[in-house]
This record gives sequence, structure tokens and C-alpha cells, in this order.
Amino acid sequence: MRKKVTIVGAGNVGATTAHWIASKELADVVLLDVVEGVPQGKGLDLLEAMPIEKRDCHITGTNDYADSANSDIVVITAGIPRKPGMSRDDLLQTNYKIMSDVVNKVTAQSPNCILIIVSNPLDAMAQAAYRQAKLPRERVIGMAGVLDSARFRTFIAEELKVSVENVTAFVLGGHGDTMVPLPRYSTVAGIPITELIEKSRLEAIVQRTRDGGAEIVKHLKTGSAFYAPSAAATEMVEAILKDKKKILPCAAYLEGEYGISGYYVGVPCKLGERGIEQIIQIKLTPEEDAALKKSADAVKELCKVIGV
Ligand code: NAI
Ligand code: 2OP
Repeated sequence: MRKKVTIVGAGNVGATTAHWIASKELADVVLLDVVEGVPQGKGLDLLEAMPIEKRDCHITGTNDYADSANSDIVVITAGIPRKPGMSRDDLLQTNYKIMSDVVNKVTAQSPNCILIIVSNPLDAMAQAAYRQAKLPRERVIGMAGVLDSARFRTFIAEELKVSVENVTAFVLGGHGDTMVPLPRYSTVAGIPITELIEKSRLEAIVQRTRDGGAEIVKHLKTGSAFYAPSAAATEMVEAILKDKKKILPCAAYLEGEYGISGYYVGVPCKLGERGIEQIIQIKLTPEEDAALKKSADAVKELCKVIGV
């Protein structure tokens, strides 16, 4: 039987995630939104692309949670995106209300699903979803690190004029201004980038990575990035559905790992059919560790505001 993925929020990130999932023939897709007509229209349009793409995926657009029943994975992108001048944190109260409502409804229909949270502010929304869903922590996962690392990898590849395929990179911590790109664990064909890029250039690339979301918002003016975010969510969906045991940076609920307890923070995770199958603990320098703790503190502050 084919796998089933529901995407809640048929906006830019949600609809583009549906597109990537169908184009990779990973699963049947249910695209769900509160706005009437939009998920139906986008869903039907995408379905009609399948004969051209030679992909046997069924895509259903709907406003009815009953259509999402028994999903293997639910990706939640519902909420408002930021506009120029807004931080991700400005979205907190509005998106918290939406997240609570959506999580209640999807888990009632799909009690065995894995939730991938995308809505911002990411780490606080993942925490809100985890508290509400009452699912094991391995089945509530936040998407941010794959995106932030992809931005870091893009800038490294452009700097060195090498294939993006040669570049691996890790960005840990919360999905915000305090995120922690880790040059020491970033390599080009196995060579640490600290040996290939001089310090001041590397610092500039790290800063551009931290500002990566804002750079796109500044160009778009009416919303935020969606191609790379949806590709990132799709990489996580694929790793889970194909039980790939792939190590990706994800927002995970920590219970003592990295000396942090009771909060979602971005760390390297092994993704497979059970969701987060392992949290990988890498050695950090005292500076990297302090940066990760500072990032976790920023997540804690937001969680305190909404009481999750
Ligand atoms: P968008 O505005 O294009 O789409 C959001 C959709 O959510 C809209 O279609 C809206 O009708 C729907 N929605 C609102 N309330 C809903 C509810 N109660 N139930 C179902 N659907 C509902 O926004 P976009 O660009 O798709 O971004 C979505 C969210 O993802 C934003 O919060 C954004 O900040 C976040 N985001 C997070 C990223 C990450 O790295 N974690 C990256 C990019 C975006
Ligand atoms: C981004 O980093 C908006 O969080 C989103 O592009």
C-alpha cells in the first residue's frame, strides 16, 4: 500500500512540499487548509501534472480533516509567515493558536503518525505541538537545521566554486538569530572548510547563513522562503518513509543530551521509519557549547511566553 502524507497549510511551503513529494513519488498527498478552494485547486492542478511527470501519486485537496485519516506523516506548515521587518518570534501568538488547533485535529485522525513541524517560530511551535500531541518525542520533529545547513552549504559551494554535492555542513541550535553553524564539522570532499576558507570570509558566510531567512524576506517583501524550506521538509519525509537512517540536523526534544532538558533544539538526528531513532551527540568546543546553550535559552524564553 502507498504511504500517505498530509500537509496542513496549502500556502507557499505546503504546496511546494506537496510538489516535491509527488515529483519524487514518495507518497499519496493530502493538502489541507482552512481557506476553501485553495487546497482543492492546487491539489487538482498538481494531480494533473502526474501523467506528464510519470508519477503515480494521488493528491487530494481538502478542508476536511477526515481526509487526512491514517496518514503516516503529517507536515504542519499552517500559520502566518513573516513580512519585512518582522522576526520569526513576532509570529508566536498567532501561530501558537493555529498549531494547537491543527495538532488536535490531525492526531485525532492519525494517532500513529509522525509530525514534522515547519511553522515559525520553529522550535517553540515544535514544543507546542509535542505538548499538545502527547506523542513520543521521536514522532514530533521540527524542520529547520536541514534548511539552515543547506543555506550554509550553498554559500560554501559558491565561495569555493565547487559542486554542492562535495559540501557537507551542520547548523545546530534554534532556528533564529542564535543558530549555531559549525564550521569545524563542515567539509568539502572531506576537507574541513576551516582549512579552505580564511577566517574573516568564513565569519561572513556564517553570518549570511544566520540571516538567510531575512535575506529572502527582504527580496520577496510579501512572505518568506519556500523552495528550500519545502525541499528540506521533503528530505526529512523521504528519510522516514524509506527508513534511510539518515543523519540530519532536526529540532528534537532534548532530555539531557547536550546538557539540555525539556526543550526543542536543533541537533544531529538519525531519521528512519520510527522518526528520530537516535540523537547523535558530537563533541563541542566550550565556545560552541556556550553558543548552543545560548540558543536553547532563546527557545526557552519563547516557550515561557506561551506556557509550553
Ligand atoms: P503561507 O501564508 O504561504 O501559507 C500558510 C498557509 O497556512 C495559508 O494557506 C493559510 O491559509 C494556512 N492556514 C492558516 N491557518 C490555518 C489553520 N488553522 N489550518 C490550516 N491551514 C491554515 O506561508 P508559508 O510561506 O507557507 O509559511 C508557512 C509557515 O512556515 C510560516 O509560519 C513560516 O514562517 C514557516 N516557515 C518555516 C520555515 C522553517 O525553516 N521552519 C521555513 C519557511 C517557512
Ligand atoms: C526561513 O528561514 C522563514 O524561517 C524561514 O526562511
